[in-house]
Amino acid sequence: MTRKIIIDTDPGQDDAVAILLALGSPELEVLGITCVAGNVPLALTTKNARIICELAGRRDVKIFAGCDRPLLRPLVTAEYVHGKTGLDGIALPDPTMPLQDQHAVDFLIETLRREAPGTVTLCPLGPLTNIATAFRRAPEIVLKVEQIVLMGGACFEAGNTTPAAEFNIYVDPQAAEIVFKSGVPLVVVPLDATHKALTTRPRIEAFRALNTPVGAAVASWTDFFERFDRAKYGSEGAPLHDPCVIAWLLRPDLFEGRFINVEIETRSELTMGMTVADWWRVTPREPNALFLREVDAEGFYSLLTERLSRL
Ligand code: RIB
Ligand code: CA
Repeated sequence: MTRKIIIDTDPGQDDAVAILLALGSPELEVLGITCVAGNVPLALTTKNARIICELAGRRDVKIFAGCDRPLLRPLVTAEYVHGKTGLDGIALPDPTMPLQDQHAVDFLIETLRREAPGTVTLCPLGPLTNIATAFRRAPEIVLKVEQIVLMGGACFEAGNTTPAAEFNIYVDPQAAEIVFKSGVPLVVVPLDATHKALTTRPRIEAFRALNTPVGAAVASWTDFFERFDRAKYGSEGAPLHDPCVIAWLLRPDLFEGRFINVEIETRSELTMGMTVADWWRVTPREPNALFLREVDAEGFYSLLTERLSRL
């Protein structure tokens, strides 16, 4: 029995690896890829999503353009991490596969209305603007969602965009608040987990050793992507954030976390976009998210490499 998912994404090299991991995993049926502005503007995230699907030989995947800016705040992008194209690292041909005409938010609403309740999982890998917009426009779909498994937030790791906030949540805190308060079963893959899934030279060379266009692209993307985090954190490699979302769907046993309350700061500029995670349960606030903190990095990279080898 395959699991139906919709990937909502702002590619970005790590998003690209997450999409490839999903496409290389027969347990998952990707109903569509909805793009959002985030790492780079929407025009580039929709272009990059098509480049990635063509690289995987999957011109059949439906790709939708979504929101081009956050609900309330101006768009903040991250070319300093991902390069000006958002997929710097290797030159790949411009895509020829088409974008779907339907807006991503309409696709999310239509799909959740059509599919049986509790059978579609949403996998946001970027700012939550598309998801929140769909929930606001069609509140009845909230109860239809099986689960949201998202990359975002931070607790002990602190922020990567401000001292308090991780990028995906920081870019659209209002959207994040809607999603975190929606009541949908949430699995949060924060920096606390992804910063333990670091690239290393042998792990990147294992991608390259696949001797396939996918392996070469993933190796070049991670080579490019890691330069920023290595300089910033002085770490050996860079965290492959977004593929952890897909890996959790495939092998939740590779991760550990706690079911706790997580709320979003939306008022103070100092802590805007902070995920206030009640890890030690010091408040009476109701738990609303499985918040991950540990990952078996070796297990993650061998799963990832094996699945990429199938493309
Ligand atoms: O903070 C990391 C997250 O922000 C990842 O999803 C990365 O792709 C960027 O979107
Ligand atoms: Ca992302």
